[in-house]
Amino acid sequence: MDTTKLMYRDGLMKDERILITGGGTGLGKEMAEGFLKLGAEVHICGRRGGVCEETATELMDKHGGKVVPHACDIRVAEAITDMNDEIWAKHGPLTGLMNNAAGNFISRTEDLSIRGFDAISNIVFRGSFYMTHDIGKRWIDQKLKGNVCSILTTWVWNGGPFVVPSAMSKAAVNTMTQSLAVEWGRYGLRFNAIAPGPFPTKGAWARLSPDSGTSSMEQSVANPMGRVGEMHELVNLAVLLMAPGAEYINGQTIAIDGGMYNASGGNFSALAAWSDEQWTAARAAIEGANAEDKAKRTV
Ligand code: HXC
Ligand code: NAP
Repeated sequence: MDTTKLMYRDGLMKDERILITGGGTGLGKEMAEGFLKLGAEVHICGRRGGVCEETATELMDKHGGKVVPHACDIRVAEAITDMNDEIWAKHGPLTGLMNNAAGNFISRTEDLSIRGFDAISNIVFRGSFYMTHDIGKRWIDQKLKGNVCSILTTWVWNGGPFVVPSAMSKAAVNTMTQSLAVEWGRYGLRFNAIAPGPFPTKGAWARLSPDSGTSSMEQSVANPMGRVGEMHELVNLAVLLMAPGAEYINGQTIAIDGGMYNASGGNFSALAAWSDEQWTAARAAIEGANAEDKAKRTV
């Protein structure tokens, strides 16, 4: 990311200690860089401990400050508790949580196995809740203010053909956002979400645009602005929600998609035209990407 395009003053986030799930790669890494550059202490977690360590080192070499990597599988509630115990004991209470980790792949729903459904929903639906619940209870017990932002998709409003487990799970996290904004607002906790349109990342493109050309991730021409998102644009919105200054925003899900959702629904409906051969090739390519990532997992 070009950090000169951040809209904010240096030091804005100096009192923040923020955990970004899935912060070792993609959008999570970009947000980690932005928060760090603005003075926050950043914690990142993922199953590939080595990837998180590399990211932490890279960002601290570039900007100084403190990025702490954690190997943690957010599908495992006990692992979340252990990580948060360690953060609280060694570094102090978090001030914010960015629920960013996710799993996804395009598939015809009739081709999905139960394990395939669980692989996605256990990360997005359960993992986001486990993390929010563990950290929220700490904030309530300790009478601390807290701030949660979740990275969703615009499919929470109109469904996600060919990505049904993801769309269902993200919609549930949207509902969590709205519900806890009300239920836990009285404790000084707030909950918002971001629904990005296409922002090219290795992880998403490998699983959502394995053919690199015909699926809707690549059809930026269908976007009213004729392009995909730029990382600093997403990070500027994330800072607005995670930095001090706009605390009265609570219970909102904000799209950042160049108007794509309003123009086209922003989902994968165009994949209805794919042949059996295209689906077979896509699955082989996705499973190759999955295997490559899995080989690096340390938890
Ligand atoms: C059908 C598939 C499949 C595919 C995997 N499976 N790929 N089924 N089509 N293309 C099935 C497998 O066959 C298996 O079922 C089951 O899913 C579990 O597979 P595992 O590899 O054992 O899963 P696991 O190790 O838990 O890995 C989770 C994962 C993987 C979701 C499958 O892709 C992952 O770790 N992803 C993390 C990163 C990621 O997805 N990033 C993209 C986020 S983008 P069987 O029954 O055969 O055993 C995003 C939204 C972008 O979220 C929005 C854009 C607008
Ligand atoms: P990505 O780089 O693949 O990011 C996903 C991250 O989640 C990875 O770092 C992964 O790390 C982590 N993760 C997955 N399962 C986990 C688990 N069980 N425990 C801990 N961490 C886990 O893809 P991305 O594009 O940046 O996606 C980031 C977020 O943006 C996701 O919520 C996605 O749905 C959302 N989003 C992306 C786009 C886009 O265009 N890129 C658009 C809309 C929404 P490990 O594999 O090491 O665990």
